[in-house]
Amino acid sequence: MICISEERYTHGMLKESEAFAINIMDRKQKELVDGFMARGIPKSAKFEGINYRDGLTGCPILEDALAYLECRITLSHDTGDHTIFVGEVVEAASIREGIPLSESDYGHSYGG
Ligand SMILES: Cc1cc2nc3c(=O)[nH]c(=O)nc-3n(C[C@H](O)[C@H](O)[C@H](O)COP(=O)(O)O)c2cc1C
Repeated sequence: MICISEERYTHGMLKESEAFAINIMDRKQKELVDGFMARGIPKSAKFEGINYRDGLTGCPILEDALAYLECRITLSHDTGDHTIFVGEVVEAASIREGIPLSESDYGHSYGG
């Protein structure tokens, strides 16, 4: 399950593709992940220099991820400012050992 602000570029892509991939990255890859945090930058620019392949649904699977889950959206619920997308996992793999980067590594919680 993911909750995405309706203002995000990604929100439109989710509505169109009806799929998403969750890539679990290592704590040491914070700099790489920060590149994806910038708002409103098209996918083609965000993925420049990033190694990835298209998954079963066409979603990007990062080659350097610790693990990933690729999902087809089965339900979406608009809450006002964010949409809750629930996905059915179509493929998942654990690739290598590491300490996953999480929201707590950002020192504050996400406020929308
Ligand atoms: C720690 C952290 C957690 C975040 N979690 C979410 C989230 O759950 N949903 C969301 O819509 N944006 C979240 N954001 C903001 C997005 O990362 C950022 O706005 C998004 O990548 C913008 O990309 P886009 O406009 O190209 O879609 C989070 C940001 C940070 C720093």
